[in-house]
Amino acid sequence: MDVSPFTTEFAYVIAAALFIYGLKLLGSAATARRGNTISSIGMLLAIVAALLDQGIVEYQWIFAGFLVGGAIGAAASRLVQMTAMPEMVALFNGFGGLASLLVGAAAITGDAGLFTLVTIVLSIFIGGVTFTGSLVAYGKLSEKISSAAVQFGGQQVVNSVIVIAIFVSGYMFTQNPETPLWLFVMIGLSLAFGIMAVIPIGGADMPVVISLLNSYSGLAACAAGFAINNNILIVARSLVGASGIILTQIMCKAMNRSLSNVLFSGFASVSSEETVVEGEIKPISAEDAYYILEAATNVAIIPGYGMAVAQAQHVVKELTELLEKNGAEVSFGIHPVAGRMPGHMNVLLAEADVPYDQLLEMDEINPRMENMDVAIVIGANDVVNPAARDVESSPIYGMPVINVDQARTVFVLKRSMASGFAGIENPLFYKDNTRMLFGDAKESIGSLVRELGNS
Ligand code: TAP
Repeated sequence: MDVSPFTTEFAYVIAAALFIYGLKLLGSAATARRGNTISSIGMLLAIVAALLDQGIVEYQWIFAGFLVGGAIGAAASRLVQMTAMPEMVALFNGFGGLASLLVGAAAITGDAGLFTLVTIVLSIFIGGVTFTGSLVAYGKLSEKISSAAVQFGGQQVVNSVIVIAIFVSGYMFTQNPETPLWLFVMIGLSLAFGIMAVIPIGGADMPVVISLLNSYSGLAACAAGFAINNNILIVARSLVGASGIILTQIMCKAMNRSLSNVLFSGFASVSSEETVVEGEIKPISAEDAYYILEAATNVAIIPGYGMAVAQAQHVVKELTELLEKNGAEVSFGIHPVAGRMPGHMNVLLAEADVPYDQLLEMDEINPRMENMDVAIVIGANDVVNPAARDVESSPIYGMPVINVDQARTVFVLKRSMASGFAGIENPLFYKDNTRMLFGDAKESIGSLVRELGNS
């Protein structure tokens, strides 16, 4: 079918508008599903317009790929656990990078100009790094390989040499595009560099790395878009590149760490002085906690990584309902890096059908904290550590935290006095208004639910 260039470009503009509107809707949990659907419609439109524009007459391979890819995607979205989402995103990014590498390589023609050749080099370089880097990130997150940071003397020198060699082979390729040798050298080195760049980063920092690789996968495909002169690929993947880097920045800011600190130094190497804590630990039983909760009219719940470990979200929802039945107003305080992936707490609480309007971001809940009768900290530690606010020598000093210590009473639900991800002491546990409810979060909340349910 013959399609005029105007029709194709018009379809691309509509698709781009759908992507941007979809992205906007993805900004809130309440509208995220709609955002996904709208963006998918944009993608379908873009694919159909691109296929018709190419004047392809043999569609059998495209349909075969569509069926196989669609079936794998549908099965993965059903089978993959919510907690394994970061790993799945890592794989998606990796295959996105590989696709850009292949598109770049396929765009090589004898009469390609210098600009096209440079964009081909970029799509192969960034695509290759994204592919193997994402596979390593996937392996570390899923613990298929050791999540420890692999560091050795002279590592930065080795990496610098690889990058220089990639640029040299890229330059040689642009001078001799007909000679496959430089192309293969460039591909091999880019794949090797992806591995080398991610192995020195510890497993706990993988969410940040995955977000950064997501941004790279966008840039790689954007370069591929220039190589094959496809406007919608350029627009769509620029959006991916930009949103990936914004998310990376948000995560780094919420941890008060620079991106270079995440990429080039394991977290343990942050120098720290011991935080001096005063006061004593005051354990509380579920029965005694119940008497305080029963009298509360304003309750804040602050979930953290431990809620995910205990899979306590459903019983947390039950507790919320009972407290509300008892006349209390309950809100959730969500820290941007609580848990181990962006939106970790939002995803878990959505799974338990906690209404979105009950979830308050850190900046919304902090001014209300002084009015809270009880703040219940469920498996959170670093994100409620007042040392980040008060102790200048603390490695997390400056990291914004939820000020639970300003509530009248604080219940901290955790199994032991073990530290959180940052591995540091938490003065909150020793404050006069804090009571420690020791035990697995799901069991402790289960006990509270039984007490409240029987009252
Ligand atoms: P953490 O500081 O890691 O603390 C989690 C706490 O949960 C631990 O102190 C642990 O104590 C407790 N816990 C574990 N299993 C439990 C269970 N079954 N029942 C009850 N408690 C349990 O968590 P957080 O406050 O959510 O902070 C997140 C940390 O991860 C931050 O330092 C952040 O910078 C980092 N990080 C986050 C991200 C993203 S994107 N979210 C990415 C990279 C790094 P016990 O062992 O004593 O029970």
